[in-house]
Amino acid sequence: NDLLQTRVLGRRIIHFQSIDSTNRKAKELAEQGEPEGTIVVAETQTGGRGCAGRTWDSKPMEGIWMSVILRPTLDLPSVPCITQIACAAVGQALETMVKAVQIKWPNDILVNDKKISGVLTESSGEIDRVQYAVVGIGVNVNQNAEDFLPELAEKATSLKRETGKAQSRQKLCCTILEALERAYLLGDGATGMECAITYCKDHSVTLGRPVSFMENGMEVHGTAVDIDERGGLVVRTPNGVIRHISSGSTLVR
Ligand code: BTN
Repeated sequence: NDLLQTRVLGRRIIHFQSIDSTNRKAKELAEQGEPEGTIVVAETQTGGRGCAGRTWDSKPMEGIWMSVILRPTLDLPSVPCITQIACAAVGQALETMVKAVQIKWPNDILVNDKKISGVLTESSGEIDRVQYAVVGIGVNVNQNAEDFLPELAEKATSLKRETGKAQSRQKLCCTILEALERAYLLGDGATGMECAITYCKDHSVTLGRPVSFMENGMEVHGTAVDIDERGGLVVRTPNGVIRHISSGSTLVR
């Protein structure tokens, strides 16, 4: 597509009218050796995946449902930093259209305290070397208030609801991919990653707040104080102990 100004991401775009999950398809392709940068997009997903095994509602023509195949030189525990890069990329892209973007660790992008976008990174490989990572990005673009499931109406929003008019999904998609590529290619280790994490910290609605997480089957409480270089949340427990939680663990509050 002529609009897209990237070198690697989106060099190949695989488009589906309807698919179960772009993440599932992208993983399948990655397993078969598909190179870094290939993108799977769909107009509708019938089995969109959310984080923590949840489903993700992806109606036709209303949002961006896409997955990007990456082959980063990272160890598995560092993969969550890819989610932070993607959150920052989506946030930066949205900021060109809405006033304030908030990031809720580990993978939610909010506007006016409502979720507008979510990121789901799935990876495979050895502990010391990732084989591939699939970054799934869902953005609510042109949904009307009544398009949301009743239980989500208060918690979720779309770009159309926030800006008062329909927006080009294609244009937004390009802006996100350009921002993602800038951070990812610059980084693959240092700078881009740092900038992305700084962005997520600066826009965080999690830092400074009480959080709780499960550790060895026990609920641990504390205050979120930082995001580390691997994309993990740094939590200070009441007795002053510092814990690093990877995005894999569940935050209860
Ligand atoms: C979350 O916030 O729970 C993450 C949602 C991620 C949704 C996207 S839509 C494109 C990609 N394919 C999927 O099945 N899920 C992700």
